[in-house]
Amino acid sequence: MITLPHSVRFAHPETGPVVEVDHQVGSARIHLHGAHLTSWRPCGLGEQLWMSSASEFGPGAAIRGGVPICFPWFAMGPGDWEPQHGFARRVRWRLLGARQSRDEVTVVLALDERDLAADTPGRDRWPYRFGLEFEVTLTATDLRMSLLVTNTGDEDLPVSGALHTYLAIGDITATRIEGLDDLTCFDKVSGTALAPTEEPELAITAQTDRVYVHPDGAAHQVTVRGQHSTLRVRNESSHTVLWNPWQDKAEAMGDFPDDGWRDMVCLEAALPMEASGEWPVTLQPGAQHAVVQQLRVGSDDRRARIRPGS
Ligand code: BG6
Repeated sequence: MITLPHSVRFAHPETGPVVEVDHQVGSARIHLHGAHLTSWRPCGLGEQLWMSSASEFGPGAAIRGGVPICFPWFAMGPGDWEPQHGFARRVRWRLLGARQSRDEVTVVLALDERDLAADTPGRDRWPYRFGLEFEVTLTATDLRMSLLVTNTGDEDLPVSGALHTYLAIGDITATRIEGLDDLTCFDKVSGTALAPTEEPELAITAQTDRVYVHPDGAAHQVTVRGQHSTLRVRNESSHTVLWNPWQDKAEAMGDFPDDGWRDMVCLEAALPMEASGEWPVTLQPGAQHAVVQQLRVGSDDRRARIRPGS
């Protein structure tokens, strides 16, 4: 039996069991299905995560929006592996615990091979023993997410994945992204590698699906200036993925509102294998690896008053 601090509670809406956080530093909602964060509202500010009004929530589905956890592979893995982005976002996780202090609150969820059914799609491709812990911490300014994988088996564990964060940016045409100009990237839309640019600010004006390489595989920070707010995003991962489906692709997706591309962008902390086809991380027995993403609201936003209806 887990004892929860008073700012954390279980709820059972129609969309499935959720962990709700309501603390003086802010609120959040995490579905056990996929350990999927679907809301983060820092105190005094509006919703920071974009959620699809057409999302599915049922068994086996991938929730559209929030922060999908892609694991054990990103995209189609080493080649046409189904399901896209692995199985972790499609299965139910366990709540491991939660703790709070005056300044922050943390929730930890877990998944290992014993939580999977024999017929979990994709499991036959990747039949390893593993332990996953997803730790979510809210402070007055930050959302910190850490996905920690441990090799609990006795053979090498190949790992890929991502924290596939959907940001609610207001108007995509008013949004600018800083911090990607000096990185090389693989552009999945054109299927080509792109060199760094001279433009410090990136505007999204068409379907965008880019895998940016972090120099030396080190952590990288990007600033997203949305219509009404600014978020600093720090990715402790080997790559940052930027995605907006734009109009045609959005209309073709059944779980995406036709005009949903107008007010979202995905900025993902990723361990992909797009360019090389190689697993980016291989863990020896007992070894661990973490992918961490930290979102920080801008100081101007913190001083601003909450907008009506947000
Ligand atoms: C991005 C990929 O990370 O996720 C895109 O780079 C993909 O190629 C997008 O379309 C959404 O994936 P899904 O499986 O959630 O529709």
